Amino acid sequence: MQKILVTGGTGYIGSHTVVELQHAGFEVVIVDNLSNSSADVVEGIARITGVRPAFERLDCLDGEGLERLFAKHGGIAAIIHFAASKAVGESVQKPLLYYRNNLTSLINLLELMPKYGVENFVFSSSCTVYGQPDVLPVTERAPRKPAESPYGNTKQICEDIVSDTVRSGAPIRSILLRYFNPIGAHPSAEIGELPLGVPQNLIPFVTQTAAGVRPKLSVFGNDYDTPDGSCIRDYINVVDLAKAHVIAAQRMLTGKSKSAVETFNLGTGRGVSVLEVVNTFEKVTGVKLNYEITGRRAGDIEKIWANPAYANAELGWQAKETLENTLASAWKWQQKLGKR
Ligand code: NAD
Ligand code: WQD
Repeated sequence: MQKILVTGGTGYIGSHTVVELQHAGFEVVIVDNLSNSSADVVEGIARITGVRPAFERLDCLDGEGLERLFAKHGGIAAIIHFAASKAVGESVQKPLLYYRNNLTSLINLLELMPKYGVENFVFSSSCTVYGQPDVLPVTERAPRKPAESPYGNTKQICEDIVSDTVRSGAPIRSILLRYFNPIGAHPSAEIGELPLGVPQNLIPFVTQTAAGVRPKLSVFGNDYDTPDGSCIRDYINVVDLAKAHVIAAQRMLTGKSKSAVETFNLGTGRGVSVLEVVNTFEKVTGVKLNYEITGRRAGDIEKIWANPAYANAELGWQAKETLENTLASAWKWQQKLGKR
């Protein structure tokens, strides 16, 4: 059984990926400092898969601790690196926290990999690297635009750190996965997104409003150059997204990579507006959402959606879940959380 180290594995996307890795027969070791997740997530994973992944509470900034972990869990075949700070607004307030956490965690792992013979690395990147693309849908070949936030900048710099390291001749190959907007939860509602404090992202704000945790959803702008005036995104089901990580790891492990660093867009290829999300959520759940149109949010991209053709063809992967089912899964998860 091949062993995969998943950093940030108790987090939102990480936990869903651990489930899919276990379904595919991998042995998983999770590293997480629990700065944005809870150890209970390990139990949720175990309830879904029947297997409890190894869990090490550790900060990826702790290079010595990581080294002890590599020594303890020998024979790691690949790393999937989710651990990072991800709140765009907070990154503007605390840029150094973001640069230190996101860059140093990555550097620590890349430095240790050759010493412990770990050759395969999947990195969580983001469609934020494209800014507002000139051409839609956006392909991997579109130029990266200057980042709108320190968080976005860390993703660009981290992509470069990985590429430069591989190019330097380090015995590492990597796949950079650029996620569009991951939403939803595992259909079992055993795991899902756990936002701390007031959610910044649309879907947790929607489900918390529907649950009565928040009085009202603000729709940030209806005067954009889009059919209904609200912003457009490519919302991808988190389980679909998780499955792409398994395929990426298998691709490297079976020697199928076409180059030492590959980049893939992970999206559905379909653009959906904020108002469409609101309407679809109401239709699927039967819950009326209290919302109002407010002013634009600073730094928002008007519209972006993926061209996932390269990932579809090369990875043999496709986002399959409908928006309806995905929003239903987010609501089921929120109902389990109750007023949290
Ligand atoms: P998340 O916050 O739920 O998960 C990240 C996990 O990493 C958390 O469990 C946190 O406790 C852990 N972590 C953070 N810093 C750590 C450190 N120094 N050492 C150990 N653990 C640490 O976030 P997520 O939504 O699951 O995102 C996972 C990755 O995907 C991140 O790299 C994020 O930037 C990227 N990403 C997320 C989105 C999104 O919309 N959710 C979109 C694009 C890219
Ligand atoms: C989606 C849409 C908002 C909240 C962010 C990061 C990006 C990536 C994903 C990690 C937008 C609108 C939102 C609300 C609203 N993360 N909205 N009312 O902005 O596409 O991307 O998360 O890499 O880097 O920037 O996602 O969920 O915040 O917003 O109207 O209360 O919903 O304006 O159009 P976004 P989001």
